[in-house]
Amino acid sequence: MAPSDDATMTFAAQDAPAQARLERYIATRARSEHLVRDLSPEDQLAQSMPDASPTKWHLAHTTWFFETFLLTPNLPGYRVFDERFGFLFNSYYEALGPRQPRPQRGLLTRPSHERVMAYRAHVDEAMTRLLLSGAAGFEDLFDLGLAHEEQHQELILMDILHLFAQSPWKPAYGRGGLPGLAADPGPLGFQGFEGGLVEIGHDGKGFAFDNEGPRHKT
Ligand SMILES: [Fe+2]
Repeated sequence: MAPSDDATMTFAAQDAPAQARLERYIATRARSEHLVRDLSPEDQLAQSMPDASPTKWHLAHTTWFFETFLLTPNLPGYRVFDERFGFLFNSYYEALGPRQPRPQRGLLTRPSHERVMAYRAHVDEAMTRLLLSGAAGFEDLFDLGLAHEEQHQELILMDILHLFAQSPWKPAYGRGGLPGLAADPGPLGFQGFEGGLVEIGHDGKGFAFDNEGPRHKT
C-alpha cells in the first residue's frame, strides 16, 4: 500500500497540502487493514444477519467509493479494476444503478478475499498518483472518502462482534484485543465528571457528517 519509488520521488516535489493529504490517505487505509489482520478470509466472508455486512464487503465498498467518486472523474486514463465490482460494492447510491441486495452480501464468495485486497492495492496506487498530480477540485469528496472509510472501520468492528457472538466457540476478536490498544486495559471503574450544561456537536470547522451538527448545549 505504500507509494511506489516513483511516487515517492514525485512526492518530495509536491506542496505540503498534497503531502498531508497523502499521509492521511495512507494512514486511514492502513488502519482498515490493521483492524482485520487477525481475521481469516472465512471470518471476512460471513454475514451474521441482514443488517450486518461481511468484513470483505466493507473493505471493497470503501475502495469502490474512492474509485467511483475520486479516480474515475479526476485521474486521466484511470483503468477501473473490474467493471463488475460496481454492482457488488455499491451500497445505497441509487443514481449509480442496481446493486447486490444487502442481506445477500455474505453470498459473495467471489471475488476472493485475495482479489479484494488486490483491488485495494490497485486503487491505493492510483490514489497516490492522483494526490501527487497537483489536480484540485475534489478536496471535499476526498475528506468524505476518508470519513466514509472510518465509518466503515466502526462497522467492521460492530459486525464482527455480532458474527463471533453466533459462534459456539465464542472467538475473541484479535490476538490481544483491539489493535493499537493495550491488551489489558486495567480494571473497570467509574469516571467522575462535572455536571451542568455542556456544548456538543460540530463547531463548523472541518468535515462533519450532517447528523453531527449543529453545535448546541445539552
Ligand atoms: Fe458506505
